[in-house]
Amino acid sequence: MRSQTLTSSSSTIFLVFVIYLCFCPSSSGNLKNFLQTGSSLSVEDDKDMLTSSDNTFTCGFYGVGENAYYFSIWFTNSKDKTVAWMANRDKPVNGKGSKLSLHRDGAFVLTDVDGSITWEANTRTTYVERAELLDNGNLVLKNSSGKVVWQSFDFPTDTLLPHQRFTKSKKLISILGRGNYGTGYFNFFFDTDNVLRLVYDGPDISSVYWPNVDFDAFGNGRTNFNSTRIAMLDDMGWFLSSDWLNFNGSDSGFGIRRRLTMDYDGNLRLYSLNIASGLWTIRWEAVRQLCSVHGLCGRNGICVYTPEPKCSCPPGYEMADPSNWNKGCKPRFSRICSSKSPQQVKFVKMRYVDFYGFDSSYSPGITLESCKMKCLEDCQCNAFSYRLTGDGNCFTKVELFNGYESPNFPGALYLKLPLSIETSEVIVLNGTNHTCKLGETTVTIGLGSSSTLETRARRVTWVYLYSFASVIGAIEMLFFVSGWWFLFRKSGIPAMVEEGYRVLSNHFRKFSYMELKKATKNFQEELGRGASGVVFKGVLADERVVAVKKLGDAHLTEEVFWAEVSIIGKINHMNLVRMWGFCLEPKHRLLVYEYVENRSLDKHLFSGNVLGWNERFKVALGTAKGLAYLHHECLEWVIHCDVKPENILLDGEFEPKISDFGLAKLSERDRNNSEMSRIRGTKGYMAPDWALNLPITAKVDVYSYGVVILELVKGIRLSHWVVEDGDEQETELTRFIKVVKRKMQVEEMAWVEDIVDKRLNGHFSRIQAEKMVEFGISCVDENRSKRPTMDSIVQTLLECEDAVKIHNQIREW
Ligand SMILES: *[C@@H]1O[C@H](CO)[C@@H](O)[C@H](O)[C@H]1NC(C)=O
Ligand SMILES: *[C@@H]1O[C@H](CO)[C@@H](O)[C@H](O)[C@H]1NC(C)=O
Ligand SMILES: *[C@@H]1O[C@H](CO)[C@@H](O)[C@H](O)[C@H]1NC(C)=O
Ligand SMILES: *[C@@H]1O[C@H](CO)[C@@H](O)[C@H](O)[C@H]1NC(C)=O
Ligand SMILES: *[C@@H]1O[C@H](CO)[C@@H](O)[C@H](O)[C@H]1NC(C)=O
Repeated sequence: MRSQTLTSSSSTIFLVFVIYLCFCPSSSGNLKNFLQTGSSLSVEDDKDMLTSSDNTFTCGFYGVGENAYYFSIWFTNSKDKTVAWMANRDKPVNGKGSKLSLHRDGAFVLTDVDGSITWEANTRTTYVERAELLDNGNLVLKNSSGKVVWQSFDFPTDTLLPHQRFTKSKKLISILGRGNYGTGYFNFFFDTDNVLRLVYDGPDISSVYWPNVDFDAFGNGRTNFNSTRIAMLDDMGWFLSSDWLNFNGSDSGFGIRRRLTMDYDGNLRLYSLNIASGLWTIRWEAVRQLCSVHGLCGRNGICVYTPEPKCSCPPGYEMADPSNWNKGCKPRFSRICSSKSPQQVKFVKMRYVDFYGFDSSYSPGITLESCKMKCLEDCQCNAFSYRLTGDGNCFTKVELFNGYESPNFPGALYLKLPLSIETSEVIVLNGTNHTCKLGETTVTIGLGSSSTLETRARRVTWVYLYSFASVIGAIEMLFFVSGWWFLFRKSGIPAMVEEGYRVLSNHFRKFSYMELKKATKNFQEELGRGASGVVFKGVLADERVVAVKKLGDAHLTEEVFWAEVSIIGKINHMNLVRMWGFCLEPKHRLLVYEYVENRSLDKHLFSGNVLGWNERFKVALGTAKGLAYLHHECLEWVIHCDVKPENILLDGEFEPKISDFGLAKLSERDRNNSEMSRIRGTKGYMAPDWALNLPITAKVDVYSYGVVILELVKGIRLSHWVVEDGDEQETELTRFIKVVKRKMQVEEMAWVEDIVDKRLNGHFSRIQAEKMVEFGISCVDENRSKRPTMDSIVQTLLECEDAVKIHNQIREW
């Protein structure tokens, strides 16, 4: 009985297997919705694709142009096979030999003709069993217990599908143009203030344009209070978001295929598919007036309605690259400095035209003539915008971006041109012969153009040789790297520490008073004078240049002094002034420091010569690193207690080095009255914690640091007290913060420009300045629990240092 069941069941299995073998090959191309481990999809077989079980979506190689293929998911039944997702949008693969494989180790990789990995899902070592295309358009990798370990829904490109969760880490980024699937410039994402926005992030500028930048979140019907940052489109065509961006498609209801796409013209649109025709209908769009999208027409370009939106160049300008509006327009003349030769320029009025943002100055309530004078006197000014609101508002412009024409614009733009350019006095742009249809960019695909096909075929043989050689190379490399690693691991680090100790014992030592007297030539050259003592320059017997500090009052016992000094002596960080020794004799207490050549920050920041932006950022970052080290990394926890520009020294490269740390205890700054008065010597930098008699924590340094970075941005002392009319006293700082907060609240785009030191003439990085001001303000919060830690400040400043490096485009204007 038993054996019979066994035989029958095994014969069933055998039968199923035979049926599988017989039918599988014939049906493999068409209606397969999953891929087993160990198998792959090939670019050559155009039936080799996955189809969702209800046939809505197809996944496979999507060909563009002659020979560019993208591993994609598209709508099976839309007329032009609309793409919903792409794996390799910036790196198309060849139409021969490329394949997508699901390896047994779980790796899901797209390889090009030469076997190089173009794209890969991060799933090695997760025991993937199959890749499956679901009915909602999600490509998932499942492990043997059926759990999803990777899904394409987590990596959207320009399209969001129903049920795809849109969260804080995700972005929809437009394609470059029609048929050009590379990463474009328009982004839809949750901004850091929790609000969904559209941003143009182009090669020259980045600029928010939706929701309306003239209002805050609430003014736009949104909220920035909910930090969950989650949004979703559902089956009914309802979009719901934690920032209250809720909308319905105009055809809400079940059974309709929809997509929300960040289009390459900068608009975000909800589309519905008409099954019969295979065409899409727009059911909702974010931007009503397309010309209010920023960045559309590039530098100097103007978006006009003819009546459909087109790009146009102002008179005297021409398209920089006739095939690409992203490059904008370039002047056909060389610039004339109008303050030197005012009679050689003229202003041409362009009605209803404005360039959004990038105002170099704003003067409310002045006449058109004075506004013209302002622009004339400024060589850098290329145009001004004059708005007939109130008494007339004047905005001078150095850069012209986000140009648009709108019948609703209550004013005009006056373009500064050399007299020699012939134009009428008033220009009305309306579909002039300069226009060109938006988005008609040529398809330029790096890898797959037809001409490379032949060279590729020839390359293949070489590739094998190369890859053989490179395998050997890689193995060698592995030994090399791991060898290093071992050295570093096993002996490197301890050796370094050991060396550190040796250096300490060698260089950190006790000096006699006579030695130091000789080194400083009897305390001749005074370098500075601070609360804790007077500093002199000296040269030691071994020719090291040093700064010797004579401590003023030294009523510490020898033991305490010794203990404190040896702690300071062990602290070694590039942003902290190194202490090399001390002198402890009955009547004399001196400290010996490394000599820092460029003297203190105040001498550079508040004096006649201007410290450049890069140096300022370097000082902000370096000082933060030094303090973070003192607060978080040192063996002994050190609070500086007296952070101020006088205590930030600059070396030859303008790398900051904090001095006088650890002296708080040394000069015995306990809170008796006489000491308080001395601390008040730098009270502009003092946290309110001192006055409130709160226990002193590292947050007092954070406060002082905040004052310093705001001073770095503004270039003036903010710690000074100013007397308002009557007895009202406030610091320059309080006044400054009020102004900044007000500007930020009304979201004036140009708030940063208004704040940053005018002496820089606009040569600064906006991202960095913004971050510094934001940090500065949170650092000087009365409530110390709201102040950030130095660690977090370093982290963020490093990111925006990197951001600027990557873009390699410190926006200078
Ligand atoms: C499948 O993934 C789930 C979730 O990651 C995990 O708990 C489970 O152990 C995995 N199963 C196998 C067989 O690896
Ligand atoms: C934030 O938004 C999410 C998603 O819309 C919602 O579930 C949650 O209740 C909201 N939280 C608050 C505090 O409103
Ligand atoms: C969409 O419309 C339905 C009624 O047609 C309404 O009940 C629902 O609240 C709307 N949803 C949104 C997000 O506006
Ligand atoms: C541009 O011209 C068209 C007709 O040629 C007209 O309908 C439209 O109002 C004009 N636009 C502006 C801004 O003048
Ligand atoms: C438009 O074209 C005509 C001739 O084709 C030319 O004379 C005119 O200057 C052009 N318009 C502008 C604004 O350049």
